[in-house]
Formats: sequence, structure tokens, C-alpha cells
Amino acid sequence: MKFFAVAGMLLLVIEASGTPMRMEVPFANMTGVLDDSGTCQCSVYLPDTSFPVQKVENLEILAQELSVKFDSELSKVSQYTKAIALYEERILNLTIRIEQMEKTSVSYTELDFQLIKLEIKEMEKLVTQLKTSLTGSNVIIDQLFVEIRNLSALVNEVELLDKNNILAVRREVAALRAKLQECEAARNQSVNIPYFPPGNCGHGPIMNISQPYMIQLNWRGFSYKYGAWGRYSSPLNPGNELYWVAPLNTDGRYLEYYRLHNSYDDLLLFKAAKEYRIQYGQGSGTVVHNNYMYYNAHSSRNMAKLNLSTNTVELSKSLPNAVYNDRFSYAGVSWQDMDFAVDESGLWVIYSTEASRGNIVISRLNETSLDVLNTWETKQYRPSVSNAFIVCGVLYATRPVNTRKEEIFYTFDTNTGRERTISITVDKMLETIQSINYSPIDRKLYIYNDGYLIRHNLYFEPLPLA
Ligand SMILES: *[C@@H]1O[C@H](CO)[C@@H](O)[C@H](O)[C@H]1NC(C)=O
Ligand SMILES: *[C@@H]1O[C@H](CO)[C@@H](O)[C@H](O)[C@H]1NC(C)=O
Ligand SMILES: *[C@@H]1O[C@H](CO)[C@@H](O)[C@H](O)[C@H]1NC(C)=O
Ligand SMILES: *[C@@H]1O[C@H](CO)[C@@H](O)[C@H](O)[C@H]1NC(C)=O
Ligand SMILES: *[C@@H]1O[C@H](CO)[C@@H](O)[C@H](O)[C@H]1NC(C)=O
Ligand SMILES: *[C@@H]1O[C@H](CO)[C@@H](O)[C@H](O)[C@H]1NC(C)=O
Ligand SMILES: *[C@@H]1O[C@H](CO)[C@@H](O)[C@H](O)[C@H]1NC(C)=O
Repeated sequence: MKFFAVAGMLLLVIEASGTPMRMEVPFANMTGVLDDSGTCQCSVYLPDTSFPVQKVENLEILAQELSVKFDSELSKVSQYTKAIALYEERILNLTIRIEQMEKTSVSYTELDFQLIKLEIKEMEKLVTQLKTSLTGSNVIIDQLFVEIRNLSALVNEVELLDKNNILAVRREVAALRAKLQECEAARNQSVNIPYFPPGNCGHGPIMNISQPYMIQLNWRGFSYKYGAWGRYSSPLNPGNELYWVAPLNTDGRYLEYYRLHNSYDDLLLFKAAKEYRIQYGQGSGTVVHNNYMYYNAHSSRNMAKLNLSTNTVELSKSLPNAVYNDRFSYAGVSWQDMDFAVDESGLWVIYSTEASRGNIVISRLNETSLDVLNTWETKQYRPSVSNAFIVCGVLYATRPVNTRKEEIFYTFDTNTGRERTISITVDKMLETIQSINYSPIDRKLYIYNDGYLIRHNLYFEPLPLA
């Protein structure tokens, strides 16, 4: 007997020699056939119930499909895992950054916070996407979500904890800066003020003066009401801002101490000042020019020239015919018989003589030798003006209007010998102006006002069109 298995059915072949015979198969139907050699062949058809071949086949196909799906799911999971690892690293980085911010409360800015908040928001979004794409709960992602939430809360906390109020200050500063720009824009629109850079004298007389900018009280205090201050150029460092402050002693007469500051910031903060002593200057007519201080040597008609590098008087020379010791000093300001001035062309001195009967005399000085190069006599009585300064060879004199206003009322042009009356109001902080110094470096007026250091900008008229 041979069995042939054919897919789907079992073929039972029964071989028998000789006579064909009938076989009783209890469970199957059977047909027999006798072949040429007398072999009996019969086929048995079994019912298709015992082995689910079709189902296995289906299963096999399903398994194949599942396997492909699984692979793809698996690769997805590994992608998510990678993404999560990256997020975890980023969260760690952020946490470190926030911890550093907490420790060093000065080194961060509002921008830092904004950036971190943005990053956290972005990560929160990504994790939410992850959660919806990976159905069901995933412990890692849930944890990530909590971490991000925690981080967000931490950032808000840190921002609230901002001990030094730096952020508030920064916002304030930004608001102020915006206001400032507004003001500037408004000013630009309303008045078109011609600008003449330092050194340019191709303009008419002073047209107007800015509001006073109060710098500060002089370093010696409120009772040091007399003195002078200013900015000077140094041939050694032409770009540097160098400031000098010279309050007189409380007697309003003697110049004994002065200070030098290497920058405006230092001046404002009373920082890194170099302080020196001299014996003695007289009055508030001091100036500083090219690293030398010029002043009236006390109780004499001598002009003193002090080298600021060494604090030594290099030269002392008499100013011919000048009166001194409070003979024709300014109105309301004693002991200032000699008022030195600096303009674009160099060193000047404003004084009086007996011959001028107390009227203002202007002399141009050789700053090396202190020799008088040129002299002009004006018709303006010196004790009736409160102070004077020189810009581009033009003398300007002031007088008080009331306790809060001063007026530039008189000019004498040494280029032409002509005098004029003008009226430019100068606002002041306190009643008396003890000295006015013009700086050709920045074209500002440096005023010593009852102990306060005050500064004004100057605006000039353009030349009339010829
Ligand atoms: C055997 O097969 C024949 C024809 O295929 C059918 O008529 C008969 O009923 C079957 N007998 C049994 C017992 O299944
Ligand atoms: C985390 O910080 C380290 C070191 O600063 C850096 O190399 C890494 O790229 C950062 N990781 C991320 C995700 O920003
Ligand atoms: C999140 O914050 C809570 C409460 O502050 C804390 O209990 C929890 O451990 C934090 N979770 C993580 C993952 O930092
Ligand atoms: C105002 O004008 C000056 C000079 O013309 C210019 O430098 C400045 O940018 C202007 N400011 C504004 C706010 O427009
Ligand atoms: C001069 O400047 C002041 C403010 O500094 C201003 O109020 C005044 O209008 C100006 N005067 C002229 C004539 O421009
Ligand atoms: C001041 O004195 C120093 C030291 O003697 C000298 O080198 C310098 O040339 C003098 N003049 C100025 C303007 O500094
Ligand atoms: C100033 O004085 C010095 C020294 O006496 C001299 O060399 C120079 O020529 C003088 N300058 C002028 C402009 O007179």
C-alpha cells in the first residue's frame, strides 16, 4: 500500500494482486479502480476537519504581516526613545542653566528667561504630540511631561525670586530709553538746531543754551560754595575725557585742593579721583588746558602755571596792570579779579585795570610763557557782570535776572573789536554762579553754582548768508 498525500486530501492507494476485492473502510468513502496490471487502486477522501491547513496558511500570512508591522512599530519606538533621550538631555541642560541663574543672580537677563521659556514651551508641545501618537500610557513620557511642567514652574519661580530687581530695573531703563528717543524725535521735529562740531568757528554768536544738567555736588560738600570745574584735553590722550574739580576753601578765597578724574563715570561716582594740594590759588577763575592749570596766585597779580603731572608750579608771571585782591571782582562773586578762559584758539585772561576804571580787559596769553600777546579793553563794567567766558574769540558776559535765571547779555568780539547786547536766558539750580568755563573739546559750559557742578550745551546761530 502506498499513501500519497496531496494538498487538501489524502489519497490512499491500495495495491492488491489477483482478484479485485472490496475493502470496508469504516470512516471513509472509497472507490477502487483496477489498473492494467491488475493492481487495485482506490482513492479515499477524508473530511477536511482534523488539520486546518487553510487556517495555518492564513496564520502564516497574518504572521508575516504582523512581523512587518511589528518591525515598523519597533523602529518607531526606538525613534521615540531617541527623542526622549534628547529631551531628557535638553531638560538636564536647562536645569543646570536655571540652577546657575539661581546661584548668580546678576549674570542673567530677561532675554535668558524668554529663551528658556520658549524652549520649555516647544518641548511641552513635542511631548504632547508624543503622548497622542503613542496610544496608552507610557511611563517615560508621563515622567517627561511632569519634568517639563516642573521646569516651567521653576523658571517662573526664579523670575519671581529675582532678588536684585534687575529685571524690573532693566524694564524701567528700556522704558526710559524709549521715552528719551521719543523726546529726541520730538525735538528733532520741532527745532532744527544747526550743529557746529568742536573746533568749527564758522558760525554766529550763541543762539541758545540747553537746560542745566546737574552733575553733582562738589566732593567737599555743600558749604564749599565757591569753585570751578571743567573738562580738558590732554595732549597725551586726546580722546580721553578728563575732568577737574577745584572748590575753594569755605572762605571763598583760597584754592588749596583740586581733584582730577579720568572719566565722566569716575566723576559721577566720586571714583578713582586723584587729589592734590597747592599753596595757594585765589578766586574761582581757574582753568585747565593741555595738562596745565592756570590760576591767580594768592594776594598778587601773578599768574601761576601748574604742571598737572607733577603738581608743581612751572611758571609764575605778573599780569601787567591787573588789579587784584577783590578790587573789581564779579558781581556777587568775591576774589575773582583774574578769570582765565580757554577757547578754540588757546588761553585768555579776563580782568580789569585801574586805567580801565574797572571795565573788563581781555588779554590773549602765550600759554608757554604767559606773555600777553594782545589786549582789548571793553566798555563793560566788570563788577556789574556775574561771570564771563570766551568762545571762538568772543567774550560773553552774564548777569542775574532772579534767583533761578541768569542772562547772557553782553558780547565782545575780539576778532572785530565790536560789542553787542544779546539776551539768552540761562536756567540755574541755585542763586549764584561762581564760575563759567567753556570747553572747546565738547562745546559745553561747565558752571559752578553754589557748590553744584552743572553743565549746559550751547547752540550757535549760523552765519548770515552773504
Ligand atoms: C460514498 O460515495 C458515494 C459517491 O461519491 C456516495 O454516493 C455514498 O453515499 C458514499 N457513502 C458513504 C458511506 O459515505
Ligand atoms: C547639553 O549641553 C552640552 C554641554 O553644554 C552640549 O554639548 C549638548 O549639545 C547640550 N544638549 C542639548 C540637547 O542641547
Ligand atoms: C516635580 O515637582 C514635584 C513637586 O515639586 C516633585 O515632587 C517631583 O519629584 C518633581 N518631578 C520631577 C520629575 O522632577
Ligand atoms: C535727531 O537728529 C540727530 C541729528 O540730526 C540724529 O543723529 C538723531 O538720530 C535724531 N534722532 C531721532 C530720534 O530721530
Ligand atoms: C532755548 O532753549 C530752551 C530750552 O533749552 C527752550 O525752551 C527755548 O524755547 C529756546 N529758545 C529759543 C529762542 O530757541
Ligand atoms: C610736566 O612735567 C613732566 C615731568 O617733569 C614733564 O614730562 C611734562 O613734559 C610736563 N608737561 C606736561 C604738559 O605734562
Ligand atoms: C610763546 O612763547 C614761547 C616761549 O617763549 C615762544 O617760543 C613762542 O614762539 C611763543 N608763541 C607765540 C605765538 O608768541
